[in-house]
Amino acid sequence: MQHLTSISDFSNEEILELFNDARIFLDMQSNEVLKGKIIVNLFFEDSTRTRSAFEMAAKRLGAQVISLDVGKSSRNKGETIFDTIANINAMGPDAITIRHSECGLPATLIEYVDCPVINAGDGKNEHPTQALLDFFTMYEHFNANVEGKKVAIIGDVKSSRVAGSNKKLLPRFGMDVCFVAPDCFKYENDEFKQYDNLNEIIDEVDVVMSLRTQLERHNEIYFTSLNDYAKDYCITKDVFGNRDIVLLHPGPVNRNIDISDEMLQDSRSKVLEQVKNGVAIRMAILKKLIK
Ligand code: CP
Repeated sequence: MQHLTSISDFSNEEILELFNDARIFLDMQSNEVLKGKIIVNLFFEDSTRTRSAFEMAAKRLGAQVISLDVGKSSRNKGETIFDTIANINAMGPDAITIRHSECGLPATLIEYVDCPVINAGDGKNEHPTQALLDFFTMYEHFNANVEGKKVAIIGDVKSSRVAGSNKKLLPRFGMDVCFVAPDCFKYENDEFKQYDNLNEIIDEVDVVMSLRTQLERHNEIYFTSLNDYAKDYCITKDVFGNRDIVLLHPGPVNRNIDISDEMLQDSRSKVLEQVKNGVAIRMAILKKLIK
C-alpha cells in the first residue's frame, strides 16, 4: 500500500504519470473511478482550499466523503490522536486525509491504519499535494520545459510547509529554487540561496511564489504591523514591472501584504489556476492511491 506523507513518497516518473491523469481530469466532469469507496477527511487545522478540493476530487471520482468535525470530536474528551485514527481505521475507510499542526504526524500514523494516508499539511513540515499542484501549474505553463527555470519563494519560508515540499520537489526536475525573506523568516542553514530582497534577483526569475506570513506559528512578534513587512515583500506592479514572470501563491492570500489587489488581477497571477489544478491533481492522487 502506498501513502503520500511526503513529496519524497512519489518518484519523478509517478509524478509525471499523475500529471497525465490530472490533465484528463481537468477536462472531465464526474466519473465513477472510485464508486463505492469512502474517504475520511480529518482536518485538525483550518482549511478552505485543500479540504474542499479533496472533497470535490473524491466526489468527482464517485467516492463518498466523511469530513469529521474535529471541533466536536471525542478528541475534546481526551482521546489521543492515535486512538482517534485507530478507531476511524476500524470503520474501514479506503483512505484518510489528514491536516495537523504536528510535524511528521501523518508519517507516524501509517503504522496504525490499513488504508492510504494522505498528508494535507503537517505543521511547518510538508504539504505535498500543494507542491504537486504548484509544480503542475508551472509544468503546464512552460509546456514541460521546466529545467533551468528559476523560482523565487518569497515570504515566511521557514514556517512554510508549502516551501518545505517545493524545495524538495522542484530541484528534482532541474528547477533552480531560491528564497527571499527578511532574516527572521529565513532558513537557518544555507542549503539554498537566500536573498534579502526580490530586487536582487527579479531580472533572473521565471516564477515568484509568494507565501503568507504564518503569524499562528510564531512565538515572537517580528513586525509591529504586517504593513511594515509589506513595504519590502508585497508583490506589486512596481516590483514586477513588465517582466514575464509567473506569480503563484498557495493561499490564503493576505491582500496588499503578500500580493497587491492589482497584481492578483494581473494575467501573470496564476493563483486561481493553482486552485483549479488542485482538484484535478487530488483526483489523480486519490485514483493512484486507492485500490
Ligand atoms: N493552500 C492551502 O493549503 O490552503 P488552505 O489552508 O485553505 O487549505
